[in-house]
Amino acid sequence: MGLYNDTVMENFLNPKNVGEIENPDGVGIYGSPVCGDMMQMQIKVDENDVITDCKFKTFGCGSAIASSSMATQMIIGKTVEEALKITNKDVVDELGGLPAVKIHCSVLADHAIKSAIYDYAQKHGKTYKGLEGFDPNADDDDEHGTCGL
Ligand code: FES
Repeated sequence: MGLYNDTVMENFLNPKNVGEIENPDGVGIYGSPVCGDMMQMQIKVDENDVITDCKFKTFGCGSAIASSSMATQMIIGKTVEEALKITNKDVVDELGGLPAVKIHCSVLADHAIKSAIYDYAQKHGKTYKGLEGFDPNADDDDEHGTCGL
């Protein structure tokens, strides 16, 4: 096989949590400053601040699909605070690694999730430690690799 391990391929070929949520509590849309691809994340949050559902739609590549599939599975069932502690590096680790040029695709998923939580927090007048200084529109590309696409 090539660049991608079996876990990445499985999450790319059979992604979980693709689609849209009816009446989401938070929506995040993010465009990668590296490749220009777009990601939408929607979340449903219950009265105990637990994320009960998360779905994504993307124009991103296979790595973005695999990262989003993994990231959504990792945050569903967690509280918002716990979900905010999950980084794109955690997602990449859980996938068993991505090629360096594809790390920015996992940032797309991570940033869109944080944007959805930010939207939820704004709408519900909540503040979270993990969102301090977060700007949903920032071109925050410190962790991006360079993509040849
Ligand atoms: Fe754009 Fe992967 S998301 S190249």
